[in-house]
Amino acid sequence: MTQNIYDEEEFFTAYSRLERSVHGLDGAPEWPSLRALLPELRGRRVLDLGCGYGWFCRFARDHGASSILGVDVSSRMLERARELSSDTDSHSNSDTTGDTISYLRADLETVDLPTDAFDVAYSSLAFHYLTHLSALFERVHASLTPGGSLVFSIEHPIVTAAMDPGWIQSENGARRWPVDHFADEGSRTTNWLAPGVLKQHRTTGTYLNSLIRAGFTIAHVEDWMPTKEQVAARPEWAEERERPLFMLVAALSRRA
Ligand SMILES: C[S@@+](CC[C@H](N)C(=O)[O-])C[C@H]1O[C@@H](n2cnc3c(N)ncnc32)[C@H](O)[C@@H]1O
Repeated sequence: MTQNIYDEEEFFTAYSRLERSVHGLDGAPEWPSLRALLPELRGRRVLDLGCGYGWFCRFARDHGASSILGVDVSSRMLERARELSSDTDSHSNSDTTGDTISYLRADLETVDLPTDAFDVAYSSLAFHYLTHLSALFERVHASLTPGGSLVFSIEHPIVTAAMDPGWIQSENGARRWPVDHFADEGSRTTNWLAPGVLKQHRTTGTYLNSLIRAGFTIAHVEDWMPTKEQVAARPEWAEERERPLFMLVAALSRRA
């Protein structure tokens, strides 16, 4: 059963203080790399899976997407998304209207997606919460037009593997990230932002092979870590170069 932790007070409040919640895409250090994987958005119909506050929905609108559907299971995240989207309608550079973005409260584990309805599907940091990801990949594939794109980020399998994740300090002061139980796919309970947050671990091979089986060609895979330039600007990110925090993937529908 879906946990919907983003609707719980303690988690929602802690999440709202993160830099990416305050500053949006500019507060997400992986955004420049993820953005580089996106196809042209102008005139395209866009689907954002696990849209949260809707930062990407508004980016797509401001870059000329003809329609955007943001889907999320959390009513609190969607409430904020709607507030932010109506705030920006009046001073957006876009010539599109406030109707360009629609938000839908639905669980990605079961959501019905219309067939042949989108040119671009996107997801940032939502898929590692899902138990039945292969089934979603199949539904996303059917909802894309032939040759359509799926671009997404997830927590990297190296990060999700450990049963008790968190940095370990060795005697000489070096910090190490534990990798254990890598082969044992399934639920992990973590204490990120609040106790008892459920995430799903799967191997890199499982992610990529599920996409291939669903009918996608893999176009790009990235073990995301901050660049040296980013670390020079933000020294506190240095430890994120010890192991990849996120995996970024771009895939294309093989349907002709
Ligand atoms: C880390 S947040 C990312 C939000 C947004 N994509 C972003 O990058 O700003 C993960 C989002 O995925 C949503 N989510 C998690 N599990 C979900 C599910 N089963 N169905 C729909 N949304 C889900 C959460 O509610 C949350 O808004």
